[in-house]
Amino acid sequence: MIKLHDKYFKPFISAKEIDDVIQRLAIEIAEDVGDEIPVFVGILNGSFMVVSDFVKKYPKPCEVTFIKLASYEGVKSTEDIQRLIGLTQDLTGRTVIILEDIIDTGNTLTEVHRIFKNEEVKSLKIATLFYKPEAYKKDYKLHYVGIEIPNKFIVGFGLDYDGLGRNLPEIYQIKETQHMTNLVLFGPPGAGKGTQADFLKEKYNLIHISTGDVFRYNIKNETALGMLAKSYMDKGELVPDQVTIDMLNAEVEKNADANGFIFDGFPRTNAQAESLNELMDSKDSQINAMIALEVDDEILVERLLSRGKTSGRADDADESIIRNRIAEYYNKTAILKDFYSAQNKYFGVDGVGSIDDITVRLSTVIDEL
Ligand code: IMP
Ligand code: MG
Repeated sequence: MIKLHDKYFKPFISAKEIDDVIQRLAIEIAEDVGDEIPVFVGILNGSFMVVSDFVKKYPKPCEVTFIKLASYEGVKSTEDIQRLIGLTQDLTGRTVIILEDIIDTGNTLTEVHRIFKNEEVKSLKIATLFYKPEAYKKDYKLHYVGIEIPNKFIVGFGLDYDGLGRNLPEIYQIKETQHMTNLVLFGPPGAGKGTQADFLKEKYNLIHISTGDVFRYNIKNETALGMLAKSYMDKGELVPDQVTIDMLNAEVEKNADANGFIFDGFPRTNAQAESLNELMDSKDSQINAMIALEVDDEILVERLLSRGKTSGRADDADESIIRNRIAEYYNKTAILKDFYSAQNKYFGVDGVGSIDDITVRLSTVIDEL
């Protein structure tokens, strides 16, 4: 992964793959051109690398020239194309092939065609190393296309993000989500998980996703996923993991600009942990840590019993029920502790002490991630 200005990019197309594609284009174009001596016209700035590599691979005599156009601001194409350097030689009667690094909306091509409208060239063809079919809005024919790519911003091999990245020999693609810190928070009943989650989300500007809340929200608002989940619950069946994952996905997408997430109440099984990894992976992100608050059983029992006296929660009033809940927590989370430990992502934090002390301990773990 690399960072240019404020954005993160991930490796997308290797230097070798680019080289092979340019080789193929050179052979294909040389065959079509036959015995003519073509003039290759690169569109600066972006095309300098592809032109340089292309003409080295072109097996016959050719000429090279450049025009300079500018359209991009940051990561967005603008309609307003500026002609900074136009044609500087007479191309009457010549076979002209435009060499582009990338064709996106096609706005630049409009300007290219405008430039050539009054030139009496023999033929004008368009070749591009990269092409984003989903972004293309014009109907000019593209005669030679190297690689079709999705409509996502890329850098490298001549392409830049606000000036940076042109020198990279391979292509990088912008990350779906920017850099995130994603935590799975665990703690036995009475460990103070809710209190700490509230502090952490404030301190690190994270979104707290409590699976219970997400379920209640979807069911209350009768979303498609909520209705689906309810149909299982009404039959007394467990909601399939995929439904839960789809709900979490919706939450993550709603907050794609977040600094990260605190997952609470999910995952509970190995399969769910794997699904959560896949979900984060699909967002070009990852779970950074499972943080578990560790509190001795006797202290938990004491805390819950005293909470039961004021809260009136029936399950906080009975010592044997409390002990069962604690035991069940350890049964369930033991597997997850193993799962995340195997990835060096398990962090146990002493949950005994003042709220502030515990927050400090949690922060130390997060700051080191
Ligand atoms: P178009 O005019 O929208 O077809 O865009 C063409 C020009 O926009 C290219 O020559 C590039 O300079 C720039 N461009 C389009 N897509 C990208 C991208 O993903 N990364 C960097 N520059 C791009
Ligand atoms: Mg360009």
